Amino acid sequence: MSTRIPLPYGPKVLEIFRNPKNIGRMDDATVIESAGSPACGDMIRLYIKVRSEGDRDVVEKSSFESYGCAANIAAASILTELVNGRSLEEAWRISWKQISDELGGLPPIKYHCSILAVGALKRAIRAYYLNKDKPHWLPQDLTLEEKQVLEEEEMIERYYGSMKAIVDELK
Ligand code: FES
Repeated sequence: MSTRIPLPYGPKVLEIFRNPKNIGRMDDATVIESAGSPACGDMIRLYIKVRSEGDRDVVEKSSFESYGCAANIAAASILTELVNGRSLEEAWRISWKQISDELGGLPPIKYHCSILAVGALKRAIRAYYLNKDKPHWLPQDLTLEEKQVLEEEEMIERYYGSMKAIVDELK
């Protein structure tokens, strides 16, 4: 008998994890951004195709690849469903908490999975405007999700770097 305690995922997380939407790479994406680290496996790559409609930049379609857990896959899936057809300004306003709520509430230990997905979205939106006039709604300062993703990536790099040094020493 297994002694592992199952994570308290809600039914919606499990349902979306089993049947994720918009999964896979997109060859004609306008922007591709990642958040997380391939070193530890917690990584999401987001593909967004943007079209301009007058003065609005609209997400024509989006997809993702996830190397994270069930919560990350569910968060990314629902994120792509939420942004498709929306303007980038509307997409920018999506928070990790909103994604968690849409999933019926993630367990606190899994908040970072939603943060990772929204961090990738915010990076993608910033990347889209990199060499364009910045819209008034795009802040200069990093959002909570972007800061959190950066912190995690730095921590992973430090940890992975030190682990790699130990492994190299043992060779
Ligand atoms: Fe890291 Fe879910 S993506 S635990």
